[in-house]
Amino acid sequence: MKPPTHVAIIMDGNGRWARARSLPRVEGHRAGFEAAREVVRTAAEVGVAFLTLYAFSVENWKRPPKEVSALMALLENFLAEAEPELIANDVRLKAIGRLVDLPAGLRKKIEAVSLRTARGRKLTLSLALSYSGRIEIVTAARQMADEVLRGVLRPAEIDEASFRRHLYTGEDPDPDLLIRTSGEMRLSNFLLWQVSYSEIYFTDVLWPDFRRDAFLRALEEYGRRRRRFGRLEREELE
Ligand code: IPE
Ligand code: IPE
Ligand code: MG
Repeated sequence: MKPPTHVAIIMDGNGRWARARSLPRVEGHRAGFEAAREVVRTAAEVGVAFLTLYAFSVENWKRPPKEVSALMALLENFLAEAEPELIANDVRLKAIGRLVDLPAGLRKKIEAVSLRTARGRKLTLSLALSYSGRIEIVTAARQMADEVLRGVLRPAEIDEASFRRHLYTGEDPDPDLLIRTSGEMRLSNFLLWQVSYSEIYFTDVLWPDFRRDAFLRALEEYGRRRRRFGRLEREELE
């Protein structure tokens, strides 16, 4: 089976996982990063070329400061621990979102690991951090308006292709498969432009329990989907 080229994941349910074990929420996040490492490993192994993980939304800044700082520390730690494995597995790391919002230490770590993994060719791992799909779209619109004012872009040149190049995801292909764990059925402001034709897979599994097998099941289910893109299937044609 040919795997999807791009898989995007809304990694949700860390808090509920911890609560079910009477643990503090941060322990759920810690376990969540373990799951993330396993999913990255599996994606590289099965030949997924792009994996985008929603790790922290712009809206998540509204959580208690203690949880936010614990998450930032865990993210930095995740990058440090995962780096050798990323390099060994030929993975390139990228981050998308309002990176200026992040603590300086984490930002430096992202820059360093992005640079040191820049030659990764097998898998592009994009971490969505301080990410908002609406802000992404508005930012692209503002950049293009600015280019028009500077005379380097004509309004008639604004089309889907040029607009998408101004999104954080640039030339990356759109997600073929969007996964959300923990039973919630919403997008929560994730990749609003890019998921317009993605196959969506919801599972009740909480993110820390979403390991290799659960990921492979999602890929198998994707393999059974028939993507029509508005057309008819050959056997439906008269
Ligand atoms: C996902 O788990 C991680 C982030 C949003 C950072 P949650 O922390 O949202 O876990 P639940 O939804 O409360 O269970
Ligand atoms: C979405 O999860 C964001 C991430 C997984 C990083 P949330 O837990 O923040 O989403 P809502 O609040 O349930 O929509
Ligand atoms: Mg949640």
